[in-house]
Amino acid sequence: MEKRKKIKRFCLVFCFIIIFLLGIGICIFLNSKRYYSPQYNSNYITGINIINIVNKDIKNKYQFVFLSDLHASILDENEKDEQIKKFLIERRNLFASSNPNNCSVEEIFEEIINYTNNSKADALLLSGDIIDSPANSNINFLRQNLKNLKTKYLYTFGNHDWSFTWEYHTQKAKETFRPKFNEFMDNLEVSYLEYKDLIVLAIDDSTNQISESSLEKIKNILEKNKPTIVMLHVPINTEYIKEETLKIRNRESSIGGSGIKIEESTQKAIDMILSEKYKVFYIISGHIHINLQDKIGAKNIPEVISAPAYEGKINLIKINN
Ligand SMILES: [Fe+2]
Repeated sequence: MEKRKKIKRFCLVFCFIIIFLLGIGICIFLNSKRYYSPQYNSNYITGINIINIVNKDIKNKYQFVFLSDLHASILDENEKDEQIKKFLIERRNLFASSNPNNCSVEEIFEEIINYTNNSKADALLLSGDIIDSPANSNINFLRQNLKNLKTKYLYTFGNHDWSFTWEYHTQKAKETFRPKFNEFMDNLEVSYLEYKDLIVLAIDDSTNQISESSLEKIKNILEKNKPTIVMLHVPINTEYIKEETLKIRNRESSIGGSGIKIEESTQKAIDMILSEKYKVFYIISGHIHINLQDKIGAKNIPEVISAPAYEGKINLIKINN
């Protein structure tokens, strides 16, 4: 009789331990982040540049889809301005002719949104020239697509998003077109996404300059002292980036080199980004329309320039996973 009681007690304790361990296992499973590398239509997404980052100061896993230079030009029936209509058609044809599969920016961007959703990315990073001009049809295109996104996004200006060629970076463009992006950005100059042990910091350098008014905001964010990825549109110059750019363009297209004269505030911002005092560990950008990678500054910070999304090319940033 006593023996039977002992066996019963043992069975109860054993069951309790199993249930307890199972419970812990389920909790760990439910709380762990699970990312995916989903299938995609390769007519639309023609290449994914995988950027694997291991950082000992970051304990968690993160995944981001990052793109630049979609240069969307969408013509819809509501556009009545003849100059804008003509411009939209010309620019649409220009970038469509560079797409290897002859597919539209509508198809490409929809596929990128689906890919971002299916990969369970922490955010979609848009580093400028996503739309080619601030026509209402382009703004609507952005709104409609970003509405379908199931995660966060971070958007910084390219030189084209907020200007037509006949109002290129003019006072009128600043006052009339830039505010159209208030719905997509927390702040038009400096915005960021903050995670437990990571910050993605977007800085507007679309005029080849970083404004005086951005400096304090940048400093405040860097002083949070979290590992930080900086997202720009125009890359910071290195000798290699300069040489590769000059092979395909007749001008330099990065800031901080000899080709583009920068203001004091821009130099101060670059110095902060590259400073050993802060924890910037990666710089991502676009603008040049080729994929380049180099290291920069005393800390040898990797800088990646994205290939253009109008060719269907995007990047997948994987941190510690
Ligand atoms: Fe650009």
